[in-house]
Amino acid sequence: MPTPRPDPSSQDYARGELHGQVAVVTGAGSGIGRAIAELLAVHGAHVVGVDRRKEPLTDLVESIAASGGSAAFMTVDVAEAESVERCISASRENHGSLDILVNCAGVIVPPTPIAEFDVRSFDYIMGVNVKGVFLCMRYALPIMINQGRGVVLNIGSVTSVKTMADLGPYAASKRAVTALTRAAALEVGPQGVRVNELLPGPTLTRMVTGPADAQTGAVASFASKVPLGRVSLPAEQAEAAFFLVSARSAYVNGASLLVDGGLAWA
Ligand SMILES: NC(=O)c1ccc[n+]([C@@H]2O[C@H](COP(=O)([O-])OP(=O)(O)OC[C@H]3O[C@@H](n4cnc5c(N)ncnc54)[C@H](O)[C@@H]3O)[C@@H](O)[C@H]2O)c1
Repeated sequence: MPTPRPDPSSQDYARGELHGQVAVVTGAGSGIGRAIAELLAVHGAHVVGVDRRKEPLTDLVESIAASGGSAAFMTVDVAEAESVERCISASRENHGSLDILVNCAGVIVPPTPIAEFDVRSFDYIMGVNVKGVFLCMRYALPIMINQGRGVVLNIGSVTSVKTMADLGPYAASKRAVTALTRAAALEVGPQGVRVNELLPGPTLTRMVTGPADAQTGAVASFASKVPLGRVSLPAEQAEAAFFLVSARSAYVNGASLLVDGGLAWA
């Protein structure tokens, strides 16, 4: 006789689906990372928000606690090996396990052709977007292997498959995330650990809008290339992330899920 399952559409079921799980989310201070952290907490996970900036993390933790969720934070630069190692092992020691790792911290610089690209900016992008993802997996995977379970979700970008001019180094960094994701999925799948990647399209965050006082027109320009006629909201990316870290995607491994509204870049 099949095991009875709760109705996934019921609020009670949804709220507790990640109950008892510890989720580390990098880049949780703003944008997509914050939306993911909030949604995983709504679904019952204990969230450890990680960012290089402290202020938005305290705000995140207060807001999760005010909604009845459970959260803590750590201020870490994901490009620095020692602090990432400390952060990952402290998360495990303080909270008992490490069930979910979402690597969302990422950076971009203003669009520039390769012929004019600042060399230090290249190193900066690679340091956060590639080395940061590598380091977090480097220190989290041994814990998950030891537990015999765990889920990693790397946040890549649509630009890794639909590259456009002037975003070469950023797109290259995200293509590297795809390679790290696939290799890790092959390596740790046999130990019960899944590794996947979410490729967001243009999303309404500081990365696209720029500072509050800048009027770049980037949002309208991106929206004009999307068949759905708009950029995505961080909460819409978070829904896809929830699918990929929960048991709903139990057979999804080594995958790259494109959530870009059908963006029309060649
Ligand atoms: N917004 C988009 O259109 C879009 C599209 C595709 C992919 N992405 C990816 O989604 C992820 C989140 O981006 P976002 O749009 O929410 O941007 P965002 O700027 O709102 O958030 C990025 C967060 O990462 C943090 N961060 C940056 N460098 C860090 C470091 N070295 N250590 C720790 N934290 C660091 C920032 O402080 C910030 O809170 C990034 O990986 C980005 O590349 C974004």
